[in-house]
Amino acid sequence: MIDNKFNLGFFPTPIQQLKKLSEDYSDYNIFIKRDDNTGLASGGNKTRKLEYLIQKALDEGCNSIITAGAQQSNHCRQTAAACSIAGLKCHLMLGGSEPNRYDGNLLLSSLFGATIHFTGEKRKGEDIHILKKELEKQNNNCFVIPYGGSNVTGALGFVNATKELKEQLIKKNLTIDYIFFASSSGGMQAGLTLGIELYNLKTELVPINIDKAETYGLSLEEVVLNIVKNGTKLLGIKREFELSDIPLNKDYDKAGYGIITDNERFAIHELARSEGILLDPVYTGRAFYGMLNCLKENKIKPNSNVLFWHTGGLPAIFKYADELK
Ligand SMILES: Cc1ncc(COP(=O)(O)O)c(C=O)c1O
Repeated sequence: MIDNKFNLGFFPTPIQQLKKLSEDYSDYNIFIKRDDNTGLASGGNKTRKLEYLIQKALDEGCNSIITAGAQQSNHCRQTAAACSIAGLKCHLMLGGSEPNRYDGNLLLSSLFGATIHFTGEKRKGEDIHILKKELEKQNNNCFVIPYGGSNVTGALGFVNATKELKEQLIKKNLTIDYIFFASSSGGMQAGLTLGIELYNLKTELVPINIDKAETYGLSLEEVVLNIVKNGTKLLGIKREFELSDIPLNKDYDKAGYGIITDNERFAIHELARSEGILLDPVYTGRAFYGMLNCLKENKIKPNSNVLFWHTGGLPAIFKYADELK
């Protein structure tokens, strides 16, 4: 099951030490895993999920993919590119109304040939079933990828990523005590949770919440738990997970989804100017700020090894150019 995937990326993604920041935050050794370098359409964490989702669509004989997200969705941009590679038609339902000028992820999604439907206030695929019916009337066989690619199939990408991480850590003779990352639609968090259990990694997840809005009436923790429960059945994991087993740090989501504050700006400048690595304004900027703040305030054990899992998002920088100067 873990091997039934459509190759879309370059793996393993590198792990580097952030040397200057480890000196500045001297109670910690800070590492970064570069999923911004997964290779598909300028990289990002969705490559891993899409390898399993696209394979499933092909196995089911589908010719069209429908998915949804915000207008600057990284998931949608990567889905559009994956569809080009797999020879599938791609329909994206993106929040907001059509802008005069396409930029950032929206520009790239259209370059990859996706058909774009603008959906106003609804940015999480609330009306996918309506579009699916319409496309089926036109003899399309549609495969729906949920918001963020977050279901048990997509999560397998991060189960596999945990195996990749474990192999890298063994080779480097390194242990990681905490993994910080941006959590938003939940698939990555669910996959890492399952992977850590399956491959017996001794590490603690510190997911930083990005979007305080619920998804289909569920909190992010509930979404993650549902995927984890489906995953335990699929993977034969015995442990029974409860809501209390799903961590989520909500200290940095107050401004709302996609709103840049001094926090994101600080994190983007800090990593760019200390290590020459770019974060994005919506996800990794917020999560990296959260990590630095936790280190500064010693919210996690001193003298530990900390990994920031960089999840991509580069194209959105160009959409937010005026706010990043
Ligand atoms: C750059 C980036 N980081 C992190 C995430 C969060 O991953 P997940 O949706 O699996 O929680 C996303 C999701 O869109 C993303 O685009």
